[in-house]
Amino acid sequence: MRGSLLLLLAPLVGAALLETRGSPDDCPGYKVVNVREKDHSFEADLTIAGDHCDVYGTDLENLKLFVEYQTDDRLHVLISDLEEDVYQVPTSVLRRPDANGDHHDNKPNIRFDYEEEPFSFRYLRLRTWLPADPYLYGLGEHTDSLRLPNKNYTRTLWSRDAYGIPENTNLYGNHPIYVDHRGDDGTHGVFFLNSNGMDIKIDQADDGRQYLEYNTIGGVLDFYFLAGPTPKEVAKQYSEVVGLPAMQAYWTFGYHNCRYGYQDVYDVAEVVYNYSRAHIPLETMWTDIDYMDRRRVFTLDPERFPLEKMRELVDHLHKHDQHYIVMVDPAVSDSDNGAANRGKEQGIFLTRGEELYQGAVWPGVTVYPDWFNPGTQEWWDNEFARFFDPAKGVDIDGLWIDMNEAANFCPWPCKDPAAYAEENDLPPAAPAVRDSSPRPLPGFPSDFQPKKSPTVKRSASGKTRRAKGTKAGLPDRNLLSPPYQIANAAGSLSNKTIDTDLVHEGGDSFVEYDTHNLYGTMMSSASRQAMVLRRPDVRPLVITRSTFAGAGAHVGHWLGDNLSQWDKYRVSISQMLAFASIFQIPMVGSDVCGFGGNTTEELCARWATLGAFNPFYRNHNELGAIPQEFYRWPTVANAARKAIETRYRLLDYLYTAFHRQTQTGEPFLQPLLPVQDVGQTSVDAYFPNDVFYDWNSGAVIHGQGATVHLDNIDVTEIPIHIRGGSVIPLRSKSAMTTAELRRRGFEILVAPNQSGYASGSLYLDDGESLDTASSLIEFEYNRGHLTIRGQFGYRANVVIESVTVLRQSRPWKAKRGVEFDAAKHSITKKVDIDLSGPAEIDI
Ligand code: NOJ
Repeated sequence: MRGSLLLLLAPLVGAALLETRGSPDDCPGYKVVNVREKDHSFEADLTIAGDHCDVYGTDLENLKLFVEYQTDDRLHVLISDLEEDVYQVPTSVLRRPDANGDHHDNKPNIRFDYEEEPFSFRYLRLRTWLPADPYLYGLGEHTDSLRLPNKNYTRTLWSRDAYGIPENTNLYGNHPIYVDHRGDDGTHGVFFLNSNGMDIKIDQADDGRQYLEYNTIGGVLDFYFLAGPTPKEVAKQYSEVVGLPAMQAYWTFGYHNCRYGYQDVYDVAEVVYNYSRAHIPLETMWTDIDYMDRRRVFTLDPERFPLEKMRELVDHLHKHDQHYIVMVDPAVSDSDNGAANRGKEQGIFLTRGEELYQGAVWPGVTVYPDWFNPGTQEWWDNEFARFFDPAKGVDIDGLWIDMNEAANFCPWPCKDPAAYAEENDLPPAAPAVRDSSPRPLPGFPSDFQPKKSPTVKRSASGKTRRAKGTKAGLPDRNLLSPPYQIANAAGSLSNKTIDTDLVHEGGDSFVEYDTHNLYGTMMSSASRQAMVLRRPDVRPLVITRSTFAGAGAHVGHWLGDNLSQWDKYRVSISQMLAFASIFQIPMVGSDVCGFGGNTTEELCARWATLGAFNPFYRNHNELGAIPQEFYRWPTVANAARKAIETRYRLLDYLYTAFHRQTQTGEPFLQPLLPVQDVGQTSVDAYFPNDVFYDWNSGAVIHGQGATVHLDNIDVTEIPIHIRGGSVIPLRSKSAMTTAELRRRGFEILVAPNQSGYASGSLYLDDGESLDTASSLIEFEYNRGHLTIRGQFGYRANVVIESVTVLRQSRPWKAKRGVEFDAAKHSITKKVDIDLSGPAEIDI
């Protein structure tokens, strides 16, 4: 049996004890009775094995255990209350996997073991023993090391507006999955499907034994054990549970520029113009909340971002095959404005009793959409259709959603949001409209010049609670200060967010206490739907800040408010790897050059090259920080040009690998080897035991499972090495936009392994449709012969123009049409092969 895993639910003891109520150590636990076995599952009752101890509230007398071997590699264990009243993550937010997966010979690769009595089980606390010095990964979102610390470590899961993304704190999103890598003994994964606030502790007991312990403040114990046996297999198995990530449009892999603090539409236009003048490809221009009228969502600042000019800007971008994205926040200004009035009319905002629940965010006093309310989606769709109307509104190509933890600036208890907003200058006074004319913007229309100068219907539902078996949460809980306090860096549960004792609309009456961690993901799927309704045929790009397990099926994620610092630059690598390869949110990237604080030329240059290897590549900057568009410094411009050129030539390779992940869950990212510090121009990089080729020089490195010293890495360069055995489809030349790039032909680059063999693939489609014809072309190279096979459903209007093979000696007798590059030790053959069917090439 590989990946054999003993699930130890006993003994379950814990740390934080309530002095007044006794210790969980003294609790009796539960015993297993009445086991009912079926083919691939069994059920049992758990009854309390002694007197109640009620450490964290009243103990439940009866629980039920359900264990199911869902596939050979996936075991589902659910321990819930008998009645199923305790809250469970709603299937409307995260659908559950089909339980009828593959079973071969009834030999599961993972096993459930338990002790009948005592089946020790505490409601809040579950401890699992691990081997010494384990290699654990996951449990995001965090900025701690990729391999999690083993001692005295607490990971808190509770969505939080986390400016500066500090280490050792809870951040924006929550992914309760960890991967336990045991080298040759196999790798397995454990997903705890629970959205309540929790502390996961990794530590050693007094006797030195290593453990991982869940301390959750609600929900049921719902586990998926994934047998592996490799990290790649765990990732695939996890994608079967939470869903495969959404495929993104080709253009979304282009370079994006953003900042908070563009003062008007001319400012934005000028940046677009400057990029083109500097000859740095800009695929997508973004605008932050600056475009809004007093920071109210679904409005435009009439003086700084007037509709007519916004439409001209978007037209200009579209005519040049560029794209436009703006931000939308969930909190709606509680003032007299269209979106708020319509939302109130429809009763879709969160309420406390008969009153609207209010917080304070950018526009001042705000109300919050209740994503559980059955009317909210329609209201949201309608606001999108109106404001982002292609014919009359702002015709965006993608969407950026923020502050959806949900953030509330007003600290708990927020008794007077209006006073808070007033004292804190929300919304801030707008800067004066500039009185000088903008710099000329060739290419923009000549008139692109600045001007010189409700009845509230409350929701009808009485929110009566609650029928048996609702899985919506037990009544009479302390929803603001439960007995166990998680280590939320924001303090109490409701601080700087929506009050956790609010009850959601809809038949089930979920409480915010249980569903807080789902707010961002629910906004994500609602926004994706609203975007699809606007443009029904194309893949919508939605980039969100807050995520929960499974969010990748709907959206991508940027890593929030980092700082322009080297440590944040470094940690962006492990964050990106965790999101792409463990959490199944592969469309991910950090704010390139750093968000908070002032960047430097060197840091921004290095980040421009590193960012080019983020799936989502966007420069973003904070209000008040010095400008950091790539054209601002010569070395940064140079670094960006080179990095974007490399990225664009490799874009189909990335697109193919990304597509594979959306089909199979196989993670598409490999670790990078960048310079990671100021003034540094060398790096010790680990090379596995294999042959590697330098991207620029073609030089060969024979990896020996050890570090190799790479020197003289100019600030405009990033070391890239191709692993022997790969065939990489490159565009023959880079381009200023991805539309232009798609008109370029291909150069097939062959990097043979030790035995002269290489393989690779190329996925092609129209780049944007949700439903599209496609080709999946396989390349196989063997000692001088390249075979092209596969499915050819998409008619590409470009051809393969050349084939290059690395590490070749000068052909003894030059073959016809084969050129030798002495510097790179490569041979290239010019060809003209269309991509409509199989082909064979000798080279
Ligand atoms: C917080 C976001 O994380 C940041 O990216 C954005 O610029 C500000 N909100 C302003 O909207």
